Amino acid sequence: MLNNLKGKTALISGAAQGIGRAIARSYHAAGARLILVDQSLDSVKTLKEECGEQTCFVNVDISDAEQLEANLTPALNQNKPVDILVNNAAALTRRGQVTELSLDEWQRAISVNLTGAFLLSRMVIPQMQALGSGVIINIASQLGHVAIKGAVPYCTTKGGILQFTRALALDHAEDGIRVVALSPGAVLTPRLTEIYGTAKEAEKALKTAYPLGRLGEAEDIAKAALFLASDAASFITGTDLLVDGGYSAQ
Ligand SMILES: NC(=O)c1ccc[n+]([C@@H]2O[C@H](COP(=O)([O-])OP(=O)(O)OC[C@H]3O[C@@H](n4cnc5c(N)ncnc54)[C@H](O)[C@@H]3O)[C@@H](O)[C@H]2O)c1
Repeated sequence: MLNNLKGKTALISGAAQGIGRAIARSYHAAGARLILVDQSLDSVKTLKEECGEQTCFVNVDISDAEQLEANLTPALNQNKPVDILVNNAAALTRRGQVTELSLDEWQRAISVNLTGAFLLSRMVIPQMQALGSGVIINIASQLGHVAIKGAVPYCTTKGGILQFTRALALDHAEDGIRVVALSPGAVLTPRLTEIYGTAKEAEKALKTAYPLGRLGEAEDIAKAALFLASDAASFITGTDLLVDGGYSAQ
């Protein structure tokens, strides 16, 4: 089966909830061993139930190089080399025009959404180089392609991660490492309910913008992330897969 991850080790950031958690569940079901990274410890117990007792959970802020060195390096040394990295975690940035946002809010978006992906990639690429293979999947957004009002930091970092993907893909193609982006449309996760108040309100506000007539589910994104991680995508690198229900086709 092409969508088989048996024998692979996958590291997923932002795995405690939403899209990262759905990707963790689907990679586990496909046979991968998991190193799950998140700054929140709330769901570790249920994640272990969903993803197996062997799952390794690392509590860390991915934008903090010192924390990563102290907390993630031991986990990397104790586990088999990482075959698949999913840079999924992103900061929740308050909506507002640049004149209404603080420097700290801008810098937080950059340091989680871009620097976090840089730091994690830098940590696992040597392992992938030693293996002679690997896949890095950067979770971007439809808002890396088009913009919305009041979201300059988010849109900027999501556009940035698309270019990060292309540049990193070129640097490591000869190492056998594929680097791809996956751009979701609006997906019903805790992030969306936090922005809109409730899932119902999020649907009311957004649904009509989606040609397929619904918002995404985390599992829609997980299915695409499984495809990109697997041998079914063996000739795909340096590009982006939009999983947005047709939003950006309009
Ligand atoms: N939900 C959507 O509508 C949507 C749409 C497009 C793109 N995306 C992207 O998909 C990804 C996942 O989104 P989601 O909706 O599941 O998000 P979410 O906010 O529901 O979950 C994000 C997870 O990342 C963790 N996290 C955040 N900052 C972190 C940090 N500094 N260090 C470690 N962990 C951190 C959080 O604790 C949380 O568990 C993000 O990159 C997001 O930008 C989401």
